[in-house]
Amino acid sequence: MSNAASSDLGDLRIDVDRLLGRLEALAQIGDTGDGGNCRLALTDEDRDGRDLVVGWMRDLGLSVTVDVVGNVVAVYPGAGDGPPVMTGSHIDTVRTGGRYDGNLGVLAGLEVIETLSTAGVRLRRPLAVAFFTDEEGSRFPPDMLGSLTFVGGMSVEEALDVTDSDGITVGAELDRIGYRGAAPCPAPAPFAFVELHIEQGPVLEQDGVTIGAVTGVQGISWQEVTIEGQSNHAGTTPMHMRRDAGHAAARVAVAAREIAADIGGYQVATVGVMDLHPDLVNVVAGRARLCVDMRNIHEQELQQAERLMATSIERIAASEGVGISTRSMARFEPVIFDIPLVDLVEATARRLGHSVKRLPSGAGHDAQMLARVCPTGMIFVQSHKGLSHNPAEYTAPADLAAGADVLLQVMIDLATREGDIPEVSPTGGEFARGERGVGAAHD
Ligand code: GLV
Ligand code: MN
Ligand code: MN
Repeated sequence: MSNAASSDLGDLRIDVDRLLGRLEALAQIGDTGDGGNCRLALTDEDRDGRDLVVGWMRDLGLSVTVDVVGNVVAVYPGAGDGPPVMTGSHIDTVRTGGRYDGNLGVLAGLEVIETLSTAGVRLRRPLAVAFFTDEEGSRFPPDMLGSLTFVGGMSVEEALDVTDSDGITVGAELDRIGYRGAAPCPAPAPFAFVELHIEQGPVLEQDGVTIGAVTGVQGISWQEVTIEGQSNHAGTTPMHMRRDAGHAAARVAVAAREIAADIGGYQVATVGVMDLHPDLVNVVAGRARLCVDMRNIHEQELQQAERLMATSIERIAASEGVGISTRSMARFEPVIFDIPLVDLVEATARRLGHSVKRLPSGAGHDAQMLARVCPTGMIFVQSHKGLSHNPAEYTAPADLAAGADVLLQVMIDLATREGDIPEVSPTGGEFARGERGVGAAHD
């Protein structure tokens, strides 16, 4: 292997057909038959997806380690030692997932390494591509469980003890699928972390812009709300005598929506889970469980939304005559990415001839956890019609290629530069510079 001149390195481009071939092969695992994917974390399908990707990593001659919570890291050596420039994402999906969310970031990372190794190039620093356990969190909350543990934000014991709705633990499932490894968590910090991801929202497509230089990730608050009323006959129970958990649940969902509307700006709120018991047409629901997802790039407003939700819940409990309890499933403050890295993504996209804009991420990402330990940035590419967590998720091949080429060139820059990236406080910068919001237009 040789060190190529920097002008040669600047001309390197990924092979989009190879990237598309891997995306297609991975999408065959957990194929839901409607264009979508279901590889919930630590299921048989997740294991099969992991086996496929680890096989590709080994085929490239990378050294692969699996850590104690199942995060997988593959390293391509550099000319020198030291912490790697890392990329990666996740290959687990929600139950109704698409083929790009997470998968693109992992497979583009492999593509970066294959491009360099095919060209016979070794950079000053090692490169690493990782996939993190349970990014989605829809089976084992919180989301980003693997990367959170990787950076020391959750203890290994706590992570292994997280249960799904059937009471099965992360630890038991890691053992069952053979992905409880030996590498320790927290792991040593990388030199830098850069993640390529689909936007999962409408902004880039609507604005006709190819690349997003991501400024940060909004704060996330997930709460489980449990309502205890009394089940009774739907025909005989007078309306004024009901303690209807179903009606109370509906009122909580409406309150979440109204709170988001009242706060406005970046505030979003979703009730995506609602279970009623006994779930029968002619029985007043005696029990309900729902999950409220609230997000905002501004921590103060997110706290305000949480306070308003708590007040609404108290009012609903009193007026419906039901008991309501809440449990936090996930709570992460907004994250601001490393400003020099955001600048680097933007400058690299322009150098490659792409239109680019700065924008915050509406979705959670492993990068927001890595930002706790090293300079971190993200690259977004368009999501057709802004659809994600949906089988119809789609990004055009030209956009996949553009994003992966920007990732390649950003990683080359980081892995060849002398010295460190300038230190910037991760909370010290502007979140975004005058961009539109992740949901409704923002003034
Ligand atoms: C993860 O994809 C999340 O943003 O919920
Ligand atoms: Mn994702
Ligand atoms: Mn997702």
